[in-house]
Amino acid sequence: MYIKKIELYNFRNYKEEKISFNEKVNLFLGNNAQGKTNLLEGIYLNAFGKSFKNVKDKELIRFGEEFCRIKTTIHKNDEDEVVEIFINQDGKKGIKREGVKLKKASELLEEYYMIVFSPEDMKIVKEEPEKRRRFINRELCQIRKGYLNDFNNYRKILKQRNAYLKELYIEDAVLDVWDLELAEYGSRIIQKRKEFIEMLGPVCSNINESITGGKESLDIKYESSINEEGNIKETFYDILQQNRSSDKRNRTTGKGPHKDDLKISSNGIDLRKFGSQGQQRTAALSLKLSEIEIIEKETGEKPVLLLDDVLSELDNERQMYLINSLGENQLFVTTTDIVDAVAEKLPKGKIFKINNGKVSFNS
Ligand SMILES: Nc1ncnc2c1ncn2[C@@H]1O[C@H](COP(=O)(O)OP(=O)(O)O)[C@@H](O)[C@H]1O
Ligand SMILES: [Mg+2]
Repeated sequence: MYIKKIELYNFRNYKEEKISFNEKVNLFLGNNAQGKTNLLEGIYLNAFGKSFKNVKDKELIRFGEEFCRIKTTIHKNDEDEVVEIFINQDGKKGIKREGVKLKKASELLEEYYMIVFSPEDMKIVKEEPEKRRRFINRELCQIRKGYLNDFNNYRKILKQRNAYLKELYIEDAVLDVWDLELAEYGSRIIQKRKEFIEMLGPVCSNINESITGGKESLDIKYESSINEEGNIKETFYDILQQNRSSDKRNRTTGKGPHKDDLKISSNGIDLRKFGSQGQQRTAALSLKLSEIEIIEKETGEKPVLLLDDVLSELDNERQMYLINSLGENQLFVTTTDIVDAVAEKLPKGKIFKINNGKVSFNS
């Protein structure tokens, strides 16, 4: 699949822009704060239904305006499909595909595949567990129908349970009900995440090995707070029961997939804590690159890749490795510095300049 064109109205710092893309490589050059990341955010929004940043929908509307609208033409299975998103100041969001209103934003992300590489992603190994959970969640949402639904249900119940744990009088019978539901959705999440990591591990390890010339052997494991073998749902339920008094004391739910993490080690060393910055970045790059392979394997589609300012984060060797791995996927690459160097290394495509919310076609 590839993105053919986009129209932005009052989106972030764009007033009104129409851009036609190259079906392979699109390079966006511009100084800081001109709108490079915003453009990638708009492209992503229309394939994912939500931003890759942790923001409220209405923050996407151009300052001082009432609503924003983004329309993309996405080419998939030899056909053009038009996706339109509309957001207003009340935070209302409407999504249409081919003129038909979608019930859920998730209908998009299960249909279109996209991977973002941002400078933050290059820190995914050393940062807090939440970042690694988000990596897994994003990926699973794309390749496993129903994951997002389980995840949303889990989150809703967890929120209610935690709110209840903060009340003055707590009845065990009420918690029993939450626990059953939490174990139901939580176990589905854990199960899918474990399967995903088992699939991702060897791919990632291979990539890491070739970046490091065989020097490092990467090992990735799903590290769960519900780590017993056997029936995950029953184990999780039992753990919730066993932890009830400490949950009541702490007024929050201490165990579950919302606490889980990825253990990433190289030659037996836990890279999260003890890896050098170089090792951590290489592992992060390997993780991201394995997403491409997994999506292709699972969906038969080549995901669109958005590289936001990441090339400048990598040394020459890793840059070249990344560029050589990008294959046939459609690419959107933004960069400020090392402009000529990057433009030369990338396969030929379209080059755009972005200046204060205006995009011009360079060559
Ligand atoms: N909702 C918005 N309305 C108008 N301008 C915005 C909005 N959100 C962000 N901006 C502006 O967009 C600019 C940042 O754009 P960004 O795409 O992150 O830049 P860069 O080119 O460095 O990636 C900032 O000047 C910011 O003020
Ligand atoms: Mg940026």
